[in-house]
Amino acid sequence: MTVITVKTKAFLDQKPGTSGLRKKVKQFQVQHYLENFVQSIFSAVEFPENATLVVGGDGRYYNKEAIQTILKMAAANGIKRVLVGQNGLLSTPAVSNLIRKYECVGGIVLSASHNPGGPNGDFGIKFNAANGGPALERVTDSIFTVTKSITEYQILESDDIDLHTLGCSSLGDMEVEIIDPVIDYVKMMEDLFDFNAIQTMIAGGFSIKFDAMHAITGPYAKAIFEERLGAEAGSVINAVPLTDFGGGHPDPNPVYAKTLVEHMFSETAADFGAASDGDGDRNIILGKGIYVAPSDSLAILTANAHIAPAYKNGISGAARSMPTSMAVDRVAADLGVPCFETPTGWKFFGNLLDANQITICGEESAGTGSDHIREKDGIWAVLLWLNILAVTQKSVKQLTTEHWRKFGRNYYSRHDYEGIDKAAANKLMNDLRSKLDQFPGRCFGLEQIQKADDFEYCDPTDNSVTSGQGVRIIFESGCRIVFRLSGTGTDGATLRVYLERYEGDISRTELETQDALAEMILIADQIADLSTLTGMDKPSVIS
Ligand code: G1P
Ligand code: ZN
Repeated sequence: MTVITVKTKAFLDQKPGTSGLRKKVKQFQVQHYLENFVQSIFSAVEFPENATLVVGGDGRYYNKEAIQTILKMAAANGIKRVLVGQNGLLSTPAVSNLIRKYECVGGIVLSASHNPGGPNGDFGIKFNAANGGPALERVTDSIFTVTKSITEYQILESDDIDLHTLGCSSLGDMEVEIIDPVIDYVKMMEDLFDFNAIQTMIAGGFSIKFDAMHAITGPYAKAIFEERLGAEAGSVINAVPLTDFGGGHPDPNPVYAKTLVEHMFSETAADFGAASDGDGDRNIILGKGIYVAPSDSLAILTANAHIAPAYKNGISGAARSMPTSMAVDRVAADLGVPCFETPTGWKFFGNLLDANQITICGEESAGTGSDHIREKDGIWAVLLWLNILAVTQKSVKQLTTEHWRKFGRNYYSRHDYEGIDKAAANKLMNDLRSKLDQFPGRCFGLEQIQKADDFEYCDPTDNSVTSGQGVRIIFESGCRIVFRLSGTGTDGATLRVYLERYEGDISRTELETQDALAEMILIADQIADLSTLTGMDKPSVIS
């Protein structure tokens, strides 16, 4: 087996976005496209000798092919050992756990998260660092710098590795170990939660419906909920990971997880419903006749985390991404711990978690997690909910409505305008930015703007500054509207409009969300001229 050097030309569009490099599968299949990015990781990151890497993905189309290429390039670039999930499968949280548990130098995750898969779908590649979390901006920036001037890459000439058989083999001088993707993850969950309490609740008749959306969490969910905790066979639906997610869109929101949501609002609803996304880091939570908004879920989990063994001593702090509702801020204040506001994307939580400034964090986009790993974690969120329900003996609805009665309710919704023209999207954002100074003091109906800015974050642990993270319009009443462009889409641009209104009157905490936000929705349109500039009379997804 020999290492060969292949001449290549730089692609100028390999800038990692909110979560790694995401493009159409067809783009990744262009000759040298994947290889250039992989080589840029190996060139930009200084790996020590004897480095062990973790490699795995969500099983989407092109996963196995990409893994073969990455393994051959890792061998050619002097990596000593690679842990690969069997059949190339590993959920994102499982990768994070393996990196930490086995003290690896990092990992390469193949996924486009919640984006559709298949030959015409999306693919993605993300580098995670030794703490198990997505590489920080300075690392992704240096990877991007290499991609812009790359002229050659190294790859081992060899046959493909058998990704199915568990155990070790060698690829040149590198050792490849094919591992069970589920075992270590289940062990970690057993250490964090009171499995006995959950098991007893389930044995007492508590029913679960978990939609794995034909994505990566199927095998994890079956092992944990059905085999370990005793949920009835069939509690996990769409459990087999498919390369195209069965033609679905593996994003657990009320639109794409419609079947589950309909079930949870039906006569025959289970006691608890949940779903996860393509790579297993997102979650949605439902009870009989109730959908828990992710921002509320974050707040409720923060308020009750101490019930689970892992957090019995309380939490050091909480964090949320800027557009996430401020419900968790109220809980943190009540607990007397700090609450941080970070830019969108999990990578910004890593430093805070490493410095033990926070224990729990989350995003409105259905991501919640804790200091157990450095990624958000769908199944973890489900288990923490189940642990809380088992100990408190409350239903999802009861826990949620009691939470609102104690803290008030942050009505919250995100309106997405997908696939709009990039130039129009940039114009909309630039128009808003140019008017920031003129906003304070302006009135819309009874609402007066107090403050308008383009969010900038200074990381308290290393003082790094990240700017241009979204336009915030904050009203005297505490209502907020946030405008930002997605950093993960692959078709045109996606504009996200985040709307929030706090209701402190506890007799008014059970209104329909869109009704409660009706005025904010109108104001957002007036402020940004949404319908004209997007060319759409309503958002494509409301979550
Ligand atoms: C989206 C979500 C964000 C999340 C990211 C990766 O990014 O909004 O919260 O961290 O996916 O899962 P966006 O497309 O908004 O840049
Ligand atoms: Zn994801």
